[in-house]
This record gives sequence, structure tokens and C-alpha cells, in this order.
Amino acid sequence: MSRKIIVLDTTLRDGEQVPGAKLNVQQKIEIAQQLKRLQVDIIEAGFPASSAGDFQAVQEIVRSVGDTVSITALARAVKSDIEAVYESIKLAQNPLIHIVLGTSNIHVEKKFNRSKEAILQMGVDAVKFAKTLLPHVQYSTEDASRSDFEYLWSTIEAVVKAGATMINVPDTVGYAVPEEFGDMIRRLNDRLKNLDDRVVLSVHCHNDLGLATANTLCAVRNGADKIECTMNGLGERAGNAALEEVVMALKVRENAYQCYTGIQTSELLRTSRLVSHLTGLDVQVNKAITGDNAFAHSSGIHQDGLLKDKQVYEVMSPEDVGADSMELILTARSGRHAFKNAVEKMGFDTRDAEDFEKLFGQFLALADAKKEVYDHDVFYLVTSHRTIAPSSTRLYELASFQVISNDQHPTAAVELRMGAETLKGSAVGDGPIDALYSVIKSLAGLDVQLKDYKINSLSRGKEAVGRVNIRLEYQGKTYSGRAMDTDIIKASAHAFLNGINAALLDSAQN
Ligand code: KIV
Ligand code: ZN
Repeated sequence: MSRKIIVLDTTLRDGEQVPGAKLNVQQKIEIAQQLKRLQVDIIEAGFPASSAGDFQAVQEIVRSVGDTVSITALARAVKSDIEAVYESIKLAQNPLIHIVLGTSNIHVEKKFNRSKEAILQMGVDAVKFAKTLLPHVQYSTEDASRSDFEYLWSTIEAVVKAGATMINVPDTVGYAVPEEFGDMIRRLNDRLKNLDDRVVLSVHCHNDLGLATANTLCAVRNGADKIECTMNGLGERAGNAALEEVVMALKVRENAYQCYTGIQTSELLRTSRLVSHLTGLDVQVNKAITGDNAFAHSSGIHQDGLLKDKQVYEVMSPEDVGADSMELILTARSGRHAFKNAVEKMGFDTRDAEDFEKLFGQFLALADAKKEVYDHDVFYLVTSHRTIAPSSTRLYELASFQVISNDQHPTAAVELRMGAETLKGSAVGDGPIDALYSVIKSLAGLDVQLKDYKINSLSRGKEAVGRVNIRLEYQGKTYSGRAMDTDIIKASAHAFLNGINAALLDSAQN
């Protein structure tokens, strides 16, 4: 009989730890709502003790989707962290406290400089405290794959006796290989089932050796009932197991694994694009499941085979992951109804009439500039519109700009607005973008360093929309900004301002 695998998505916690992937509250809510449409079982919404901003974001996510999706957040094994998690998630229907503490010698001796017994006791005390607050507690044995097996088991046994309801076994540094990891999970599972078969065994794999998906699947085959993943495999260093890969492997090869998930797979591509758009981190073109080329067939032999029968070269159909081949092309004359239909087809809510009118106005402006508006454009239009920072915060807006490009002295003049204040200036640079960014930087008066600038065309045709992604550094932290427009200089200005605004918002929240 097929076994249900619980899917925890940690894009908003482990994924957001990626430098430059910092999201504001509104963006986190947008992703959480899409994760709800994707039907993940649990959302790990953040690490509330890390900052006031993170705490508030977790609370807002609970308000937005906590009535239907289980919400968890991370705590170290200390009271103040656990209290912060409890306070931020307590209003969710099904809240779960997640505690992490290392079990490997390196963690116990080098990170904590304490004895193994003392660390084990610290974990037990943390679980006992968490249980006074909520019934569901997950305990993560950080760096489990490099831990002494018997000590790892003693920890699990002790925290289960203290009340932990889920045991998560992380391959924190991506050191495990599938056979070895699977074997460890099988042994832990055997003992855990004997100890208390109501406790859920979970895995959390990192991708340092490119094995996160393989290790996760091997763990499932060996008894794990829950998996922790991120969209697009985002996460610390080389990232986490990619949700889309593990889920589709379980679906396409259900005969091999005898397991299934509750994921609405037709939402995968949309979720991947939303996360990529909001974090500014591109998905590689040949990425399994969600890369642009994942369903593109270029060789003549393959195309010939596909025309005869799709199964000749496809193990799943594009529709399974939401890569719908039926695309509607909108124009300025399509009207409200067709536009509304396209927005709703993407899963976005259009019930707020005032908000929809604003969105429709933006659509008309885009359609005038671009003539043909594709699904891609509509998607980015809605997500950009919905993730504007709260108006109460004093942020920079672009009022006007002029850029002159030549091989002598490229020059930019810019007018910015911040609340009622207007700032004007001009600068010369090595090129038009350099001039533009110099003047914006001096008007904002912030010592930001541009680290990365990328421009892509978003859709087809000569009227394609340009999407600009930038990364900048401010006070030792990395922020990203992105924007799209048919005018790439304007998109560049907006992207840079969005990066500066992200830095300002972060400083205001923390
Ligand atoms: O990689 C890791 O060990 C983690 C834990 C918090 C589960 O992210
Ligand atoms: Zn992790």
C-alpha cells in the first residue's frame, strides 16, 4: 500500500538564509500563499528569535495561511528562542515548535565546548519546556550524518521520552551519500518504531555534493515519513533538496517508492517562478522539473519521436508541473474580463476591486508599450504589484530620469521622491548605468556597493520586457532588487532603488 509522505517547505527559513535572498514581509506572504496553493503540509516560516522583522513575518504568515497549513518556525535549544517561536505561531490551527541542536562531535565539542551529556540534557530540557507551550514539537539532530550513531540514538530516545513528536535527521553539511544515509535512516526507523511508533521520522538534506534529492529519496525508501525541502533547492551554500525534484520523483516513480505526497504538482512551475522572481535568484535553464529547458526538445530525432508519441522522450508531461502549453496572448484590447481570467488562472485573487483596477491600469500601460502580453508578463506584473513595500515606510521612488549615453561622458540626471521630499541630482559615469547608479547612490546618501547586475529578456518578441536583477551590499549584508520594464534603463533604476529600499526596510525592522 502506498504511504503518504509529509512535505515541509523551508524556503522561507533555510531558503531565505541565502545571501541576497532577503524577502520583505509582503513577499513572504505572497510565497506562503503560493505554498498553500501548492498544498505543502507544513511551512517553516522563519527563525523568529533572529530579528524583530523575522518574528513579525512569521506572525503575518500565520495570519495569512495558518488557518489551513501547519506552521512551524525554528528555535535553538534555549528558552528565549522557543518562547519567540511560540509567540509567533500560537494562533495557527496546527502550530509546531522546531528545535535544533547538534549531535556530531564537531558541534558538541567545537561549537558548544560542552560534554555530550550536557548537550543531551540541554535538548531534553528544551523539549520539556516546548511541551509546556504546545503539543507538537520537532527535534532536529543537527549534523546527524556526521554523528556517532549510538550518541545520535541516545539523543533521539531521550527527546522522544521528553515529548518530541517529530524527529528530523539533517545532513546539515551535505556529507551523506545515498546508501549510507538510507542505512542510517533504516536503523533509526527500526528503533524509533519500537520506542514509539507515533513519532514521525523526517529528513533534511543539503546539496553540497549534489546528492540532496538522492539522499532524501533513499531516506524515504528506508522509512522516513516526512521530508524537508525548498523550492528551486534554495538554501545554505549549495542549497537544500529541491521540493519539485523529490515530489516529482515520488510521483513519476510511485511504483518504485510506493509513496505519494499531497502536493498539487500543477502548481510547481508557478511556485518556482514566484520564488525565483522574489528572491532574484535565477533557476538554471536545464534544472530538472522547473528549468526553462526541462521540457524543450531540440534535436530532430527527439522531435520526430515526440510527434509519434510523447512518451518516447518524456517521463512526465509539462502539464503535470503546470507548464501549460496553452498560452493566452493578451493585448490592450483584450479588456478587463480576459485580463481577470488570466490573473485568476494563475491562482491570484482578484476580489479586491480597487486593487484589481490598479492592476488593470498597469496591464494597459504594459500592453500599450509591448503590444502582446504573455503569461510570463502577467505573472510578473501581478507579483511586482502585490509585493510593493508598505506605504507607511519612508522609501525612495523614482520621479523622473534622463540618461545620455556616449563614448565621452555618459551622464544621468535623476529626480527621486521620498514622502513629500524631492531630491534631484546628476552624475557622470563609466557608462549610462554607472552614471545612473552614481546619482541614485549619492541622492540616497547610503554607502551601498553594487555587487551584481543582470539583465534578461522576460518573454518573446522584439517588444520583450527587460528584467533587471541587482545585488548590493550595505553594512555587511547583501540585498537584492529587481524590476521589469520595456525600457531597460528604467528597469535598471527601479531595480537599484528596490535594492536600496530593501536595505532601508531591513534596517528599520531590526
Ligand atoms: O541544515 C540543518 O541542519 C538545518 C536544521 C535547522 C534542520 O537547517
Ligand atoms: Zn538546513
